[in-house]
Amino acid sequence: MRAPATVPDPSLPARVTVYEVGPRDGLQNEQALVPTAVKAELCRRLLDAGLPVVEATSFVHPRWVPQLADAADLLTMLTDQIGDRARELPVLVPNERGLDRALELGCRHVAIFGSATETFAQRNLNRSLDEQFAMFEPTVRRARDAGLDVRAYVSMCFGDPWEGEVPIDQVVDVGRRLFDLGASQLSLGDTIGVGTAGHVTALLGAFTAAGLGVDHLAMHFHDTYGQALANTYAALRAGVTTYDASAGGLGGCPYAHSATGNLATEDLVWMLHGLGIETGVDLDAVVATSTWLAGELGRPSPSAVVRALGGTVEGGTAESPA
Ligand code: HMG
Ligand code: MG
Repeated sequence: MRAPATVPDPSLPARVTVYEVGPRDGLQNEQALVPTAVKAELCRRLLDAGLPVVEATSFVHPRWVPQLADAADLLTMLTDQIGDRARELPVLVPNERGLDRALELGCRHVAIFGSATETFAQRNLNRSLDEQFAMFEPTVRRARDAGLDVRAYVSMCFGDPWEGEVPIDQVVDVGRRLFDLGASQLSLGDTIGVGTAGHVTALLGAFTAAGLGVDHLAMHFHDTYGQALANTYAALRAGVTTYDASAGGLGGCPYAHSATGNLATEDLVWMLHGLGIETGVDLDAVVATSTWLAGELGRPSPSAVVRALGGTVEGGTAESPA
């Protein structure tokens, strides 16, 4: 059986945007250095599989995330291969320096990424919780002035490995401030995958009560504790229609060591299609892509759906770290 039986639930959204983050969130946490040409092929295959958004890379400091040090080369290679479509792929920019690098390559969509907690702001951005806004404010203002679309991420929404529980009010306060800088969408990150379904419902209720409704929210679940699909279902019930996921369940965050992979795109799409929710995504094509990528990385995908539907993994071209 290569697709689930479809049993629609009319109380859920009819259509969902799957926001693919594998090339960025997935590959930023790979031990092995993945060749730029393999990254470009991954982006192209994901677009060809019908994913409407493919986040390509990050213009962060290359010393902080060496895995994405080839961001400019990747964008240049993709522009040669797919023309202007490459400029539509979102990229992360933490600051004005990152924005300048993205603007030089003609990127049209950028994303800032803030932290709901003090400790992660320090570890991920080398800034205090308050200082992060001073870094993002001119970045967003200049991006908007240049006509770019800006997404804002907020990390550690459901728990933090150093601080433990994160109060919902604190998440809403940081999320609101990031969104109000001029973002079109706020992606709520469960960076270390500790959230559970009731927590999702409560957080979304608090955002709605604060005037930031589900039309402007996306969910970004990591699957560390196997809760990502249950959490997605809770968010669907609340009306959220954009979900971040990574092909094959690649991923994590290099500055949050208890973070494992994102919710796998294939696992998400299987559930959505079973619920009769349209995605425009060709599930077989994503599985084939993740199976190919697993071969390049030399290890199998952790996604249950890729394992159920995919092929075998052979040798890889990625260089293992010394
Ligand atoms: P810093 O060291 O404080 O930077 O790092 P600085 O502003 O003091 O500048 C120091 C030097 O770095 C300067 O060079 C800058 O030009 C240069 P110098 O004048 O000394 O020669 N520099 C840069 N170079 C290239 N690109 C840049 C850049 N910025 C400064 N963008 C910084 C601050 C924010 C740059 C650093 O902390 C950083 O790069 N952090 C990125 C960490 C990261 O990428 N984490 C993973 C993404 S977040 C995530 O995965 C979570 C998410 O998935 C959601 C979820 O799961 O919750 C989004
Ligand atoms: Mg993430």
